[in-house]
Amino acid sequence: MVMSSLEIRQKFLDFFRQKEHQIISSVPVVVQGDATLMFVNAGMVPFKKYFLGQEPAPHPRIANTQKCLRVSGKHNDLEEVGVDGYHHTMFEMLGNWSFGDYFKKDAIAWSWELITEVYGISAEDIYVTVFEGSESDGTPFDIEAYELWREILPEDRIIKGDKKDNFWEMGNVGPCGPCSEIHLDMRPHSDRAVPGKNLVNKDHPEVIEIWNLVFMEFNRLMDGTLTPLSQKHIDTGMGLERLCRAIQGKASNYDTDLFQPLIHTLSEMAGVSYSGTDAPADVAFRAVVDHFRAVGHVLSDGQYFSNTGAGYVARRLLRRAVRYGYSYLNLSEPFFYKLLPVWQGLSESAFPEVHKVLSSEIITEEETFYRTLSKGMGRLNSLLGVADRSDKLSGTDVFELYDTYGFPVDMTALILRERGKSYDTVAFEVALREQKERSRKAIKGGRNRWFGKSEVSEHPLDSQGLQFFQDGSQEFTGYDHSSHEWSGFEDTLREDQNFVAQGSNDRQRTILAFRKTPFYGASGGQIGDRGKVYLRKVPLDSKIPKEASWQVFDVSDTQKERDVIVHVLSEGLTSNFSNLTGEGERPHRLDYKLVVDDVFRREVSRHHTATHLLHFALGEILGSHVAQKGSRVAHTGLRFDFSHPSKLKPEEIKAVSLKVNEMIRAALPLEETRYMPYDEAVKEGAKALFGEKYGDKVRAVRFGKSMELCGGTHAQNTSELGLFHILSESGVASGVRRIEAVVSEEAHLFFQRQSEEVATVKSKLKAKELSKGIDKLIGSERDLSRRVKKLEAAYITVFEKDLWESRSLLPGGVHLVCDATDRMDFKNIKDVAFQLIENPKTVVLIRSMVSSKVMLTLGVSHDLIEDKGMKASHIIRVLASDINGSGGGQDRMATAGGTRPEGWEDALARLKKILLA
Ligand code: SER
Repeated sequence: MVMSSLEIRQKFLDFFRQKEHQIISSVPVVVQGDATLMFVNAGMVPFKKYFLGQEPAPHPRIANTQKCLRVSGKHNDLEEVGVDGYHHTMFEMLGNWSFGDYFKKDAIAWSWELITEVYGISAEDIYVTVFEGSESDGTPFDIEAYELWREILPEDRIIKGDKKDNFWEMGNVGPCGPCSEIHLDMRPHSDRAVPGKNLVNKDHPEVIEIWNLVFMEFNRLMDGTLTPLSQKHIDTGMGLERLCRAIQGKASNYDTDLFQPLIHTLSEMAGVSYSGTDAPADVAFRAVVDHFRAVGHVLSDGQYFSNTGAGYVARRLLRRAVRYGYSYLNLSEPFFYKLLPVWQGLSESAFPEVHKVLSSEIITEEETFYRTLSKGMGRLNSLLGVADRSDKLSGTDVFELYDTYGFPVDMTALILRERGKSYDTVAFEVALREQKERSRKAIKGGRNRWFGKSEVSEHPLDSQGLQFFQDGSQEFTGYDHSSHEWSGFEDTLREDQNFVAQGSNDRQRTILAFRKTPFYGASGGQIGDRGKVYLRKVPLDSKIPKEASWQVFDVSDTQKERDVIVHVLSEGLTSNFSNLTGEGERPHRLDYKLVVDDVFRREVSRHHTATHLLHFALGEILGSHVAQKGSRVAHTGLRFDFSHPSKLKPEEIKAVSLKVNEMIRAALPLEETRYMPYDEAVKEGAKALFGEKYGDKVRAVRFGKSMELCGGTHAQNTSELGLFHILSESGVASGVRRIEAVVSEEAHLFFQRQSEEVATVKSKLKAKELSKGIDKLIGSERDLSRRVKKLEAAYITVFEKDLWESRSLLPGGVHLVCDATDRMDFKNIKDVAFQLIENPKTVVLIRSMVSSKVMLTLGVSHDLIEDKGMKASHIIRVLASDINGSGGGQDRMATAGGTRPEGWEDALARLKKILLA
């Protein structure tokens, strides 16, 4: 059974808890109060003060998982993201820390124990590095770390590394020290013709660093010198994403369960499948999901999109993601926000704050950008049309895109790079400075306004508007009604506060709150209602207006903000509220009609009832220790987390399912008691959730023997649920299990899809019995892949020799090895190319086909990079335009994917030109 990311994270924390570490939560990724750093970019950032001895650490040993973002400064991975399978903007860094406590010996021994014994990573896949020393810094070879590793590993698995790889520094100044990295060779065993040792720290995509153990003992001063710290510390950082990839045996971080649910959702939206190659669409998939995680975490830490600082980075990342979706996944409407629930589900156990992010916040930002995107892209394309013969766009054109079309300049640069072009950065900077000067003079604050009241407030959800109802005077009528209609008078509007709407000029989002509402605000795991709000303003001296005069607003979500139910509109329509609430010349009244989407509510309610039945059945089947740990109830399904020490056995799952379905067939009516004294309800056996706050009076919901304290909406009778089906059972954290299930329409659709799928598979297999057909297929696939592996291994050696012999020697002494025969699988080509560029003065360019896409693999030997600055990652971007595609990679090895195989000749000619230049 593959270990899930949740288990992997938890095992790390549990391991160090046993080693007497205090486990702490991640600090916000957005750094507060430090002018030199915008985001936490390494796990050690919050601990800098302890390393420098400015403050005592709260505990000598700490372990955690820290949200990190690398989008600027010394550690910036943005350009790599999406291009390969193991770089990210946002990632989680698992770390263990010693502040003047244990040092190298324990840090090394424990890292080995965790990796090999807890995670079960095979020792033969592991290489480690140690610091070789630096003459310029006067720091010696780290013989202590070397000797410690020698007790564990043979000599040929320990690699000495220079200052660049094995001396970790936070920035130009600050705490630092020699480090020892743990690298994993993740290539399949059949692809290991080249020893892994030769590929460590060589940017090979499958031989990668997973853990860095830093032995903090110096402080780098402004003048570049090192002074010893008063104590020695340990700082380790392990990327959770890479670790999951290794443990789950995936080809890329994006294939792990941290990303796949996001990619899957995106793929369904786009109607494009993800195949994990270097093709532009696949790069886009990776970039979009990466950027979502980054934006999500920034927002969950309380940062709004803005034009400066961290909020601006979030804005740029969103725009970058949207552009990828627009250009490569055919997504011409807002889509990014739809990833929110999936991401929340993935992250909530480690970072409960993810639920603070509102989808309306993302939609608004996305919609604003979409409006300009298509115009901007049109403009850029026409500029590129004109500039087709030149490689450079003018700085003023790029500035116009930025200023008028809202294109962040890094996005323009990215698009240009994809086409092998650049722009005049100096002229752009000049234009930018001029504009800043102009806007300094003309700053007007974009502020939020509550219509219906005169308050103007800065922060939307802190604003005074909601205080109208915070006295508890807002009435929720949704248990008994799904719609309401009433009238109010404008002159009493301000007095009675029947209605407030919050909008904002720049964010274009609108939230409504009413004195009474049938809409259920998301809480207790149940998602918020959707529906429509109708409003009209009627002069008192006119006749009853026609229906047409209603203004209709779609409510896309209903939330609770500090106990007040707020209706989130799917479109920002603030200006219309001015009409409704503005100062009228004639006295008038305001009519309200609030209508919940009945079908949506019905399906959500049925899933909520199913959650109660499931809770009850689990207690009956597994025992009274089962306690609810979390739940999510939506119209499309339910998720229920509960305490239980082990994985459920298939027969337990069956028994639970049977029990719930029995309760459905028993047609148990809803028995609801509102305003019941809490003690009485609990005495009657109602399940109350640990840690949940209840008032003195509670609402008890009963279906037969199941009784819970609950504020949610429910089916009137269990028979409405029709059918209950468990989709999955999995582990969330140690001792916590999760069940996902469906009822009603979703259950029906599930089985319908299943039966259609079975029929299709049977007909494809031409088999009457599914399992027999599949057994046959598996058998022949196994035979074939065994044969292919053998042949491949033999062929790689021949192919490599062949290529080397066919090389041409260019004037200037460069060996050019090229091949377009498509004789070798794309995956193996990289290994062969790595091997070939071990020869000095060698450049390798190989064309291959992956389905209908053409791929270029370019390798450059080390000396050419050093002496001539010929970086494969730069050259490939230029060549990519010939095959109508895009590319990227590392200095030594880079790849490009495109749609124009016949562009190969042009790419080769262009490469020769570059080499001869
Ligand atoms: N500070 C080191 C890093 O960021 C280890 O945590 O890699």
